[in-house]
Amino acid sequence: MAKKSLVAFFCKHCGNETARWEGKCPACGEWDALVEAPREQGPATRRGGKPLPLSAAPRIVKPGASTGPRALKSYAGERVPRLSVPIGEFHRVLGGGAVPGGSVLVGGEPGIGKSTLLLQMLGAIAADRTQFPPEAARPPRPLLYISGEEAPSQIAERGLRLGQGEDATATAYAFDSDHLKLASETDLGAILEMLDAERPKLCVVDSIQTLRDPAVPSAPGSVTQVRECAMALVDAARRAETALFLIGHVTKEGAIAGPRVLEHVVDAVLSFEGDTRLGLRVLRVLKNRFGATDEVGLFEMTGSGLAEVADPSSVLLDRGGAADKGPGSVVGALCEGSRVLLVELQALTVPVPGGGSPSRRANGLDANRLAMLLAVLETKAGVPFRALDVFASAAGGFRVDEPASDLPLALALASVATGRPLREGLVAAGEVGLSGELRPVARTEARLAEAQRLGFTQILLPARGRDLAAQHARAPKVLRARTLREALALGLA
Ligand code: TYD
Ligand code: MG
Repeated sequence: MAKKSLVAFFCKHCGNETARWEGKCPACGEWDALVEAPREQGPATRRGGKPLPLSAAPRIVKPGASTGPRALKSYAGERVPRLSVPIGEFHRVLGGGAVPGGSVLVGGEPGIGKSTLLLQMLGAIAADRTQFPPEAARPPRPLLYISGEEAPSQIAERGLRLGQGEDATATAYAFDSDHLKLASETDLGAILEMLDAERPKLCVVDSIQTLRDPAVPSAPGSVTQVRECAMALVDAARRAETALFLIGHVTKEGAIAGPRVLEHVVDAVLSFEGDTRLGLRVLRVLKNRFGATDEVGLFEMTGSGLAEVADPSSVLLDRGGAADKGPGSVVGALCEGSRVLLVELQALTVPVPGGGSPSRRANGLDANRLAMLLAVLETKAGVPFRALDVFASAAGGFRVDEPASDLPLALALASVATGRPLREGLVAAGEVGLSGELRPVARTEARLAEAQRLGFTQILLPARGRDLAAQHARAPKVLRARTLREALALGLA
C-alpha cells in the first residue's frame, strides 16, 4: 500500500488541502495561492516541545474526545465545563464563556483592538472572586498572556491604564493580580513548556504569526509555521485543560497565511471588525463548536479600552444622525444574533458621468444583494437606475447581512432615485424576492419592540407573516405590503 505523503499543499486563501501543487486553488479558484506544508499528524508525532505528562490527559467532556460506545442516555448529564468571562458581550459571543481545553482564534485587522480585548478579558477574569477567591487554600491556576508582538512593559502599562477607566461599563479589572502573568516569547517549544509548567486556566497567545517552531524551516507567519505552531498549541492546551486564545492578524482581503488556514484547527473562530477610524467594534462568530454562530458582541473603543455597548441601536442611529435626513436614508429593524438592532441604511445616486457604464458600490452591505435589489426595483417597481451610479452603505461602520435588510435598502434606493423622502418615524424589515414579492421575516415582535423603544411610530413589514397580537397603545403602527411596489407606495411620502 502506498504510504500517505507527509506533505500537502494548502491554499493561503481558503485553507483547502490538495495533494499536488496547482497554479489555481481547486476550491476557491485563487491563483498562485497553494503552498507546501506538512500534513496534520496525530499528537504522538507532533514536533517541538516535549510531550505533556499523562496526568494532564483530557478529563473534561470535549467534542471530539474519544469514548467507547455507550448508551446515548448515559451522556445526558455531561456538560462542557465553562469559565465565566465577566465581560457580558464577550461571554455571550463565546456561547457562554470559555471552554477549558478548547481553542479560540480571534482574527482581525491590525489595530482593531484584539490585544486590548483579550487583555481586558484576562483582567476581568482576574477580578472575578468566584474564580480567584482571595483566600484560596491552594494557589489557583494562573492566567497567562504570551506576547511575541509587544514588550511586556508596554502591555503591563496598557493593562494598568485600562483598569483606571471611568466609562459606563461596570466591569471590574484586576491587572495588579498575582495570578495574571505575562511572558514575552516566540519560540514554540518554550511556550509549550510554559503551558506545561504553569497549567494556566486561560492562555492568550498574541499573535500566532509571530511564533516559530525551529523544526519547521520556513519563516514565522508562513502557512507552515502558523499551522504547525497552532496545532501544537491547540493540542497542548487540550491536555493542560487550558482555554486557549490565539490572536491572528487578517488583512483587508482576509487572505493571509494565518487565520483562514487555521479554521479547521481550532474549536471557535471569532472575527473582530469595525472601521478603525470609528469607535464601534463588532465581535462576530465565524465558527463555534460550543455555541451559536450568529451571535455578535458590540464594543466601543474608548480612551480607556473597549467598553461594552449596552444600547447598540441608539449608538448606530446617533452616529448616522437623525432619520429625517431627506431622501435616501431608511432605518431597518434587523436581527443580529439574539438581538434586534436598528441600523440606518443610506443610498446615494449620481448620473453616470459621460454616459459610461454605471458603477455600484456597497459599504457594509452585500454587493450582490444590492445588484439584485436594483434589478428588482427597475423591473418590478418601475424605478430606473440604468443611468445612475449607485452608492449604498450601512451607517456607523456596521456590516449588515440579514435578508430582512432588503426592504429598508430598497426603500432607501427608491427614495433617493425618486427624490421622495421616507414617511416620518418609519422603520422597515423584509426580504425581497426576485419577482418583487416580499417574504416574511422572523421575530417581528422583537423588531416591533425595539422600534417602539426608540420612538418609531410606524413599521413596514411583509404582508405574509405572523399576526402581531397584543399591541400596546404606543406601539408603532404596522403597515403591511405584499410587493415591493406596494411597499414603496406605503413607505415613501
Ligand atoms: P490593539 O489592541 O493594539 O489592536 P490589535 O491588537 O488588534 O492590533 O489596539 C489598537 C488601537 O486601539 C490603537 O490604535 C490604540 C487604540 N486604543 C484606544 O483607543 N484606547 C485604548 O485604551 C487602547 C488600549 C487602545
Ligand atoms: Mg495587537
